[in-house]
Amino acid sequence: MAQPTKTPLSEALKRLVGQPVSAIDTPSLVLDLDAMQRNLSRMAEFARKHDIRWRPHAKMHKSSALAKLQMQAGAVGVCVQKVAEAEVMVQGGVPNVYISNEVVAPSKLARVAELAHQLAASHGQLAIAVDSLEGVRRLAVAMNERRHGGGAPAVIDVFVEIDVGQGRCGVPPGRAAVELAHEIRKHPALRFAGLQAYHGRAQHLRTAQARRDAIGVVVQDVLFTRKQIEAEGVPVELVTGAGTGSMVCEAASGVFGELQAGSFLFMDADYAANERDPAQPQFEHALFVKSRVMSSGLRHAVCDAGHKSHAIDSGLPTVLALEPTGQLEYSNGGDEHGILRPAGANQRVPQLDDVVWLIPGHCDPTVNLHRYLIGVGGGIERGKVEKIIRVDARGALT
Ligand SMILES: Cc1ncc(COP(=O)(O)O)c(C=O)c1O
Repeated sequence: MAQPTKTPLSEALKRLVGQPVSAIDTPSLVLDLDAMQRNLSRMAEFARKHDIRWRPHAKMHKSSALAKLQMQAGAVGVCVQKVAEAEVMVQGGVPNVYISNEVVAPSKLARVAELAHQLAASHGQLAIAVDSLEGVRRLAVAMNERRHGGGAPAVIDVFVEIDVGQGRCGVPPGRAAVELAHEIRKHPALRFAGLQAYHGRAQHLRTAQARRDAIGVVVQDVLFTRKQIEAEGVPVELVTGAGTGSMVCEAASGVFGELQAGSFLFMDADYAANERDPAQPQFEHALFVKSRVMSSGLRHAVCDAGHKSHAIDSGLPTVLALEPTGQLEYSNGGDEHGILRPAGANQRVPQLDDVVWLIPGHCDPTVNLHRYLIGVGGGIERGKVEKIIRVDARGALT
């Protein structure tokens, strides 16, 4: 069982609660709690309006506390990508967890079966994705072995993943999915729960029309597959998928019953570069790296946050334009440094001790670099630290 990162909060961190934002040391990962709450409310409202379930992806925030907050707002549970993430969520008290990913190693499947039984004993539910006959059979073996170990019997929900254009996991739409559905139904400890159709590469297609076109193809693939499965007398109860970039399309399709979007809660710079679909709720940036200028020259300044503070796989951070620094451009200064240049000709170069707020390019791997999120209420300029949120599934990769 993966151990959540339960290092006790340091005295310095505990003392920070109630302090003004200026007391937060740099570089630190800071969460604007008000902006996050607005994102959460907008998502809940969107789901209500479209009469669709949402099971947001917790691989983004890796925090059981935030997972529970999402469930209080109406989410049916959370998705995770790793067994270790699922273990941390369950230990943190999250009752509905979907491992939206393939797991085939018998040692991991034994942990999956253990979790399924643990959740069933407390009226919770575990779900998992599959894309191979071998994967289904191994899952069934693991569930049966655990069943003989005692306790109330559990049934795990199993989604067949189809590859709808990403070229990652998933069987091709059509016949292969039918065969997997039949195989799942042969095993009493497994329940065929429906289809997973997630198109990761569509999320950052820059125009709304390009994303609509890509999801249009996804919907055809799902309809084609669902029809074949149902033609053999097997109901497809739920189709699950969608990320923050495309969720308006899946929600409007009438085919998807569940949204897995995760990043909407924090919103990163890469998502901000997408043209917003008019149907998309206005999600705001809630995640920032607070950084400080440590060197200042004639043409540029240097801040204390490099790519050990934020992930750069989806591009460098952008800088929040605030007084006194104004609009700045960030370029890569290595692990521990960021180079800052004024964006306009008549702007001053940032001075020593100036604070800059970086908007990470990609929220998921940025969060995974930090043990805590420092939650600020009242805005990041003039607010106060309200709580420290543990990233308890940080590094939960197995
Ligand atoms: C299977 C799956 N579902 C949902 C998501 C959530 O996407 P996002 O965080 O971009 O909203 C991801 C992200 O990679 C994913 O892999």
